Amino acid sequence: MEFSIKAGAPEKLKSGCIVVGIYADMKLSRAASAIDAASGGALGKIIKRGDHRGKRAATLLLQGVSGIQADRVLLVGLGKQSELNQRAYAEILRAAYRAVAATGATDTLITLGELAVEARTIEHKLTSIVLAAHESVYRFDQLKSKKEDAATLRKVIVYVDSSEARVATRCVARAEAIAQGVDLTKTLGNLPGNICTPTYLASAARQVGREFDFKVEVLDKKQIEALRMGSFLAVTRGSAEPVKLIVMKYQGAGAKDAPVVLVGKGITFDTGGISLKPGEAMDEMKFDMCGAGTVIGTIRAIAQMGLKINVVGIIPTCENMPSGTAIKPGDIVTSMSGQTIEILNTDAEGRLILCDALTYAERFKPQLVIDIATLTGACVVALGHVNTGLFTQDEKLATALLGAARDAADPTWRMPLEDDYQDALKSNFADMANIGGRAGGSVTAACFLARYTKNFRWAHLDIAGTAWKSGVEKGATGRPVPLLTTFLQKLAL
Ligand code: BES
Ligand code: MN
Ligand code: ZN
Repeated sequence: MEFSIKAGAPEKLKSGCIVVGIYADMKLSRAASAIDAASGGALGKIIKRGDHRGKRAATLLLQGVSGIQADRVLLVGLGKQSELNQRAYAEILRAAYRAVAATGATDTLITLGELAVEARTIEHKLTSIVLAAHESVYRFDQLKSKKEDAATLRKVIVYVDSSEARVATRCVARAEAIAQGVDLTKTLGNLPGNICTPTYLASAARQVGREFDFKVEVLDKKQIEALRMGSFLAVTRGSAEPVKLIVMKYQGAGAKDAPVVLVGKGITFDTGGISLKPGEAMDEMKFDMCGAGTVIGTIRAIAQMGLKINVVGIIPTCENMPSGTAIKPGDIVTSMSGQTIEILNTDAEGRLILCDALTYAERFKPQLVIDIATLTGACVVALGHVNTGLFTQDEKLATALLGAARDAADPTWRMPLEDDYQDALKSNFADMANIGGRAGGSVTAACFLARYTKNFRWAHLDIAGTAWKSGVEKGATGRPVPLLTTFLQKLAL
């Protein structure tokens, strides 16, 4: 997908399809009015006939409109101006791209950046325009022998006011970086467990490092053993796939600048292990590496932006399988931190690989650490598929992350993390158990991680409900790449 920016008179701009808006009160958007005037009232006629009432996201394609340079005009309903918020805006953009895709147009001129959207700046709007374009043409068909509906749309021309052209160039470039990071995260997530193995994730990370010229180290089992990551290694014991610890080192700032460390859960398939999961929808546990995918996609995005910040990505990655060599309920292991863990449920494996990765993060003397993990089904019960769960005791960090979530339109909700929940992790035989019972499952999981993050500022993102969609739309979402990229962008300013 290619993007360009144009200003000037909309009727004079060439494109395969110009997209203009109409409000529910039949008022035309500015660009729509210009098209109407240039065409001798083509849009006015349609409104008079009642063929478009401005209903939000309703579309009408017009062919053969005279007096303008575009081959087609897509009239898209904007609903009521008073109800035009980010959610409505995204819905309108989706509908517009869907309607353009149904035509043969290979490029489109989008004028919807000129609309007033509640609490949204030009930067927000252009980001939405770029992300929605990518979303509309994203396909995961590399494993289908017949590629069905390949997208024909190749180019989006973003129409802006001439006073905004300079800002727009910067915004669109940044949004493209986010979109490409999102696409990568989605593809890694969508790949099945037999292809997207720990080794595959390592090569994907290396490839990003090569493309953007930064170091990526991949530690193998021997090196992980030397680090005494007994908790991480316990999880991989049942699997025939080689375990990896991936370390990505993006350096956009001076060598002495303390890095932000991103830690991503990279379970390439989670069967539950000996505490085996039920069969229903178990295929979706190929998405259990979406935290890892998020780290790779986010670092790709900030590298493409050339952000002046240092970011280290740490990805512990392996499978969680049952076998004769697998860990068993009741087994006790020693983590890299020295703390011992009684594994009461082998399906609570995410925290077991993350705790050692978090201890490893200490050596980078980070300014802060954020882990991203499809950690608990309990988080899905709590927040559904809308909000990512944010857990931190650091008020400032919480505020910054929630602000970035709002800016990025990547919804995130703060969850509690008081020490009062810690009691649930008590073990009679080790320093802690790896589960805390059914009550507050996402909180006790975060509490487990908190025991390994005492030496730095830290936040945990539980993306179990937001990293992928189930049902007919089954597929990875690329979340929370927009949130993290936006957060890092602000930090780098
Ligand atoms: N990867 C799962 C969490 C998960 C489950 C994400 C369903 C999305 C949908 C994680 O490893 C897991 O199995 N967690 C257990 C923890 C429990 C045993 C304490 C869970 O949530 O059931
Ligand atoms: Mn599990
Ligand atoms: Zn898991």
